Formats: sequence, structure tokens, C-alpha cells
Amino acid sequence: MAFPESFLQDLKMRNDITDVVSSYVSLKRRGRNMVGLCPFHGEKTPSFNVYTENGSFYCFGCGAGGDVITFIMKIENLDYLEAVKLLAQRAGLEIPQDSYDDSMSRLRTRVLEANREAARFYYDSLYSPQGRSGLDYFHSRMLSDKTIRRFGLGFADDNWSSLCNHLRQKGFKDHELVAANLASQRRNGNGIYDRFTNRVMFPIIDLRGNVIAFGGRIMTDQKPKYLNTSDTPVFKKSANLFSLNNAKNSGSRTLLLCEGYMDVIAVNQAGFHNAVATLGTALTSEQAVLMKRYADEIIICYDADEAGQKATARAIPILRNSGLNVKVLTIPSGKDPDEFIKSKGKDGPAAFGALIDKCGNDVEYRLQKLKQNYNLEFTEGKVAFLQDAAKVIATISSPIERDVYSSKVCNELKVDKNAFVQQINSISRKSNRENAKKQARQIQTDLSGRNDKINTEHRQKPRSSSAEEALLVYLINNPDAYSEISSHIAPSQFQNSFIRRYFEYVLNRIQNGLDPLTNIAADFSADEVSKLYQLMSQAIPAASTPDAMREYIKVINEESSKLKKEDLDNISDNQLMDYLERIRKSKQ
Ligand code: UTP
Ligand code: MN
Repeated sequence: MAFPESFLQDLKMRNDITDVVSSYVSLKRRGRNMVGLCPFHGEKTPSFNVYTENGSFYCFGCGAGGDVITFIMKIENLDYLEAVKLLAQRAGLEIPQDSYDDSMSRLRTRVLEANREAARFYYDSLYSPQGRSGLDYFHSRMLSDKTIRRFGLGFADDNWSSLCNHLRQKGFKDHELVAANLASQRRNGNGIYDRFTNRVMFPIIDLRGNVIAFGGRIMTDQKPKYLNTSDTPVFKKSANLFSLNNAKNSGSRTLLLCEGYMDVIAVNQAGFHNAVATLGTALTSEQAVLMKRYADEIIICYDADEAGQKATARAIPILRNSGLNVKVLTIPSGKDPDEFIKSKGKDGPAAFGALIDKCGNDVEYRLQKLKQNYNLEFTEGKVAFLQDAAKVIATISSPIERDVYSSKVCNELKVDKNAFVQQINSISRKSNRENAKKQARQIQTDLSGRNDKINTEHRQKPRSSSAEEALLVYLINNPDAYSEISSHIAPSQFQNSFIRRYFEYVLNRIQNGLDPLTNIAADFSADEVSKLYQLMSQAIPAASTPDAMREYIKVINEESSKLKKEDLDNISDNQLMDYLERIRKSKQ
């Protein structure tokens, strides 16, 4: 059963989309809409639109769109029910009792409860006799008990069933533990066993304080060194960061991006609480966009080894594209932050602070790296370096910043700045032209529907689809045209079955006196909702007049009276005569 319509209407009215979005995205007015940088993909110029009048949003860059409930689902990574709950709480509304039964939501709640209980169990084990080896391990890595408590670190013993037994006693069902990825099913199908054994444990906590996953480190040289929770109903590796819950409250708009759990913890213990790490995968743009919500600047603190340097080179454009300033920390003698701090003993915190203070931004870092590839004693080396350096500097969008680096490079190499600047300008003009072309091509493909993975029938039936889409949007915006439209067109005449589904849905709601879209987030998938809002956002005012509507009806009627080829093959003589007669009439 779904929520009562009146409750959803109230919910939407009291959660104005502009207010809600504004607490995540800084919005500026542009004409009748509000625009901002899209929180769902990295971008430097705003293509994320909020339409106050119909309570919707749509991003022309990545195609995300929907109503206020969809927005909360996406940005907070919640399911429908949880998003409604959050919005109800925000507006001080009571959720109608027993109005919604959703087994997925219940499972998510159970998984979170199991995780919390597991974290408690692992922590207690660490301080029990069986946990001695784990506690010794952490102490040998110089972690204090205070740090262990702050991060809720723990220990999983090697019994293969300790956690399962404990959680069963607490009332958890086997399938819930498997869903949480705390246990695995035995191959013979007979019962379950603990997924983490003989490892020290790192709980991963989200921004609402939920324990959403774990990392576990083996205490020997065995592989894999770290085992992480796979994706579960409450955890998506690529969209979360370790310790963002702490970093968010550090009071700083700079985040230290580290490679792993131990680095983040050591850096925290040294007094820097603004450290985060990815969870065993390369940095994603989802994570960059997430960081952008809490930071303006990222200092990459990856290992000084080759893998760390490669990861740094990959991370820089991802972070820059999300509008973040980027700096790169250089750690001497091939160490990671944890090893570096430890190696300095009691001076560790101060020494790490000094590294942070003197770290250069990403451009300096890249120029520095480039320089190592050339022999600048010789003219050829100089020329080749300058050509590559021009490419790096051309990626900077701020003219002042560009000028500063150009001067720096030219002074260092004692060459004339004019020629160098000309080279940079020509590279950036070329790349601007290429970007513009790429964008134009993208828009063309979007409009043609060729790459549309959701509305796939558009490309096969462009004429009827365009008319059907336009009529659908018209009906949503003008529910009072219901009688006229439904007296001329039946849903069965829609050739595009995807659009037909929306059309039937909207007709049905209007017929029952309901607003067409109040419940859309519950009745369609997130991608389908985005698609619908894309159609609505792309409609131009000239396409939504009564005359235009009559034109759509005409086209849909024409297209639906055309017989399909396979029908023509099997048609009887009488039917064929009928058909020809109809075509002749419509041409008169
Ligand atoms: P590292 O191998 O650099 O480990 O992996 P580390 O952080 O220095 O750990 P210690 O100091 O040896 O304990 C960096 C990160 O990559 C992921 C983990 O998130 C780790 O923190 N990783 C590494 C895995 O997920 N699995 C592995 O087997 C190894
Ligand atoms: Mn390490």
C-alpha cells in the first residue's frame, strides 16, 4: 500500500524544492529557474536546474531529474520510504501509520542494525582475551586506546562462527547476515559462516552515523591484506569515503585524501581530523562530488611509491572537474603518511603539518613531475619540456593563475615569455573549440534519441514518438485538457510502449482527480523518473499551446492508422480496401 495522496501533497508543499536543494547546492536565479553545479556529476559550469513552479529538478549535463523525493533519494542514497521519512521529519510531519509496507526498506534497516551490533561485538572482542593479538597489533602500529575507541576499531577471531552466533542470539536471521555481507552461505547450502575471520576490523560509518560496512586487515603478510564489505543494500563502495563522518565536523573546508584506513587513522591521531580515504577502489567522480559538499580544497596524500603517483595523476582531473582546488602532498623517501608520521616519533604531527604547509597545488606538482623527464641543460630538452608545460598550463581556466605559472616557468628556464604564452593560448583555443564541438555533438545525439537507453523505441519510431512525448508533457502541464485529449486519442494508439505507460498512468491519475506526478517517485524507477523530467525540461513554450496539442493528436492518429508491414502481409482483401479508403480520406 502506498502513502495517502493528501499526505504526499502536504509533504511536497512543506518541502519546497528550492529550499531542500539549497541545503546541498548553492543555487542562483536564472530567469524563472534556479541553477547550480550538479551534485550528481562533476561540472564547472552549472547545468543543474530547479523549477520552483512545478517542484522539479533536471540536470542537462547528466540527465538526472525528478521531484523533491527523487532528489533526496539520490543525494542521500536512500530508498523511497527513507526519503519520505527524512522529508517528513524535516517538515515536522507525522508519517501515517501502517500506510507503507516495503520489504526492501525493512531489510535495509535490519542490515544497519546487524552492522551496528557487529561493530560493538568486534570492539568488545578486541578487549577480550581472544582479541589480544588484535590489540597488540594496533598497539604495535602506535594506535592509542583513545584512537581505537574514536574509530570503533575491533577484532574478528578465527572461529568462523563467533559473529553469526552472537547475532543470531540477538534475533538476526541468517538471510539478513548474508545480505549485510557479514556472513557467507556455505557452498553445500548448509548454513552460513563469518565473512571476516582473524582480522582487525575498521567500521565504515556514513554521514548519519550508520555503520554501513567494514574493512578487515590481516595481521600477517598473507593476501588479501584488506578484505572489504562488498556492495550491499546499504553500501556502495564507489559512493562512500572512510571517515568522512569525522572529517565533515573538523571545521575545515580542506580534506586530506589518503589511500587507506591506516593512513587516515594515523593522520587523525596526529591531530588532523579532516582526512578521508576511498575504500579499496580508485577515486570516482561520485566521491569527488560528495567531497565537494564539504570541501573546497583537496590535498592528495597518496603514497610516494609508483602506484601512489599513478593514482595521484588519475585523481587530479576527477577532483578538478568537480570544481575542487587540488594540492598534492609530497612525502619524502617513498613513505605513506602513516609511516612518515611514525618515523618522526614525537615530532610526527609537526613534521606532517610542515609537509602540508609547503605542498604545492596540482599544477606545480605536474610541472615538477614533467621536469624530471627532460634534461634541461640542452636546448632540445628545454624545448620539449616547454611544449609539454604549455599543455599543462593551458588546462588552467583562471587567466591570473595561468600568468603566474607562465612567468615562473619562463623565469626558471630563462626564456622569453611572449612565445610561451602564445603557445598556451593556441593550445587552449584549440581545446575550447574541440570541447564546444564535443558538446554540440552530444546535444545532437541526445536530441536524436540515438543513445537513449531508457526510451529505446524513440529511435525506431521518431515521428510518432515525438508527438506522443509532446502530448504527454502537454497533458501533465495542462490536466484540464484531459477531456479533449481523451476524446480524440486512446492510449492504445501510442506506438511507443514506454511513453504509452506514462500516458496511461497520467490519464488514470487525472481521471481520478489526482495531480499527475505526486506519486511518481514510488511508481517508476529512478531512471524512468529522470527520463520523464528530461522530456518536460526539453519542451519549449511554443510546443505547449492548444494548437500544438491538436497537431500532436493529428500526428498520433495518422501514425496509428498506418498499418505495420507485417500486418499488410496478412491482411484480407476487404481489410485492404478499407485501409486504402481510410488513407485516401485522410489525404483529402
Ligand atoms: P595499501 O596496501 O597502501 O595499505 O592499501 P595501507 O593503507 O598502507 O595499509 P597498511 O599500512 O599496510 O596496513 C591502501 C588501501 O587499499 C585498499 C585498502 O582500503 C587500503 O587501506 N586495499 C589494499 C584493499 O582493499 N585490499 C587489499 O588487499 C589491499
Ligand atoms: Mn601503510
